[in-house]
Amino acid sequence: MSILPADRVTDLSIAADAAHAVNPWVALAYLAAGVLFILALRGLSSPATSQRGNRFGMAGMLIAVVTTLVTHEVASLPEILGAIAIGGAIGWIIARRIAMTAMPQLVAAFHSLVGLAAVLVAVAAFLNPGAFGILGMDGNILAVSRVEMALGAAIGAITFSGSVIAFAKLNGNMSGAPIMLPGRHVINLGTLVSILGATALYAMSNDAGAGEGWLFWALLAAAFVIGFLLIIPIGGADMPVVVSMLNSYSGWAAAAMGFTLHNTAMIVTGALVGSSGAILSYIMCRAMNRSFISVIAGGFGADAAVAGEAREQRPYKTGSAADAAFMLEQAEKVIIIPGYGMAVAQAQHALREMTDVLEEKGVEVKFAIHPVAGRMPGHMNVLLAEAQVPYDKVFELEDINSEFAQADVAFIIGANDVVNPAAKTDKTSPIYGMPVFDVDKAKQVFFIKRSMGGVGYAGVDNDVFYMDQTMMLLADAKKMVEDIVKAFD
Ligand code: TAP
Repeated sequence: MSILPADRVTDLSIAADAAHAVNPWVALAYLAAGVLFILALRGLSSPATSQRGNRFGMAGMLIAVVTTLVTHEVASLPEILGAIAIGGAIGWIIARRIAMTAMPQLVAAFHSLVGLAAVLVAVAAFLNPGAFGILGMDGNILAVSRVEMALGAAIGAITFSGSVIAFAKLNGNMSGAPIMLPGRHVINLGTLVSILGATALYAMSNDAGAGEGWLFWALLAAAFVIGFLLIIPIGGADMPVVVSMLNSYSGWAAAAMGFTLHNTAMIVTGALVGSSGAILSYIMCRAMNRSFISVIAGGFGADAAVAGEAREQRPYKTGSAADAAFMLEQAEKVIIIPGYGMAVAQAQHALREMTDVLEEKGVEVKFAIHPVAGRMPGHMNVLLAEAQVPYDKVFELEDINSEFAQADVAFIIGANDVVNPAAKTDKTSPIYGMPVFDVDKAKQVFFIKRSMGGVGYAGVDNDVFYMDQTMMLLADAKKMVEDIVKAFD
């Protein structure tokens, strides 16, 4: 179906076909952009190389955008440059102002825009297929293009509405608690089957007029609804996995639209985003010992995060900042394990100061980061980098776990689940199977949290509180660390 007169459609089709002829320079430029995107992903895999990775990504995007602009007949260059300037300025301001703890919702908001962009491209192609060079000899949109458009529009719409809900939950605009509709799995399955059915029927429809165009609108509406339905039953704490999954969806939506737009750079970029987002979601789920399917199916695993359970009273030892400062000064090796509570308290700068003082006193200090410490991938790394803790002091679980046996102090600050031995021993525990730090091997354990009543994300008791060598430091993490620094000689 086209809203343009037939002769105009044909003109545009011919122009578009000419534009799609493979130009070796364009292919080369897109290849260079693709290689730069791969280097960007590689760089982003480590905090030490992430800035370089970002620069590779920016260079790749610049090459891709400039190549597209100079090799395609664009409607109005000033309008496009104006839009880039406005979008760039908004992005720059947001990036300067955003608090590190608000990154998950910002990312969710950005994904919603990618999803919406895919929907708008699909709608534009649907309304004016001649301009996109996707008309067949019979005046119909080519069947293959109908599949691409339908998939791009559906995935884009799911990404959009899902990301809007994820944003609202993370930003506190709606409750982070799971919203369980009765019969939700049947409704979700029914909606998904309808989307697939409408896509198949739309692809097979052979109507020169607007006849079966309603299928396109129907599948688009159903996709908006399913994005909403899939995300509302997911609890706030699972949102980081959801955001990473929506990131993956946005990539696949962009790749599908790359086919419609005959743009190889978009196909490659979309596929890279789609696959890397999917891999990240999978890694996060594995590190949390959660089933990927249960998270994406929406609410199957929502009850895993229980709000604390009745606990037997067991004896534990408490200490003061002065006690901790005294023992830290005597130590030779201290391993700090930060967790979600450090982010809540914003204790990273105080922690850096404590580290500096200890190092001046000849104590070796290392940081141990669990892959799912905090509430988003790299949460701890970002906060420690913000406080300018050198990268060479920050170690991942598998690289440092064997060193606890030689540590004088395991200094746990706002972490809980990631040090809970129940993950290794208690088959009934919701965190069973999650790899955790062997803090029990350290000579002494200092455990900073606000109260004995507070629980970690998994809501389970932690045997580390009650070990002989554990001293509970019950206070806000930032306040406690500041007091420890003050108590040093
Ligand atoms: P948690 O197990 O969530 O424990 C947080 C601890 O911080 C609690 O003991 C809490 O106790 C304490 N705390 C909170 N605010 C504090 C403050 N202001 N000062 C001092 N302590 C404070 O944290 P974790 O060990 O980092 O584990 C992360 C958990 O989140 C894992 O179960 C993981 O599966 C899950 N998760 C992670 C992610 C990603 S991608 N990182 C995504 C979703 C879920 P009090 O309340 O008593 O202070």
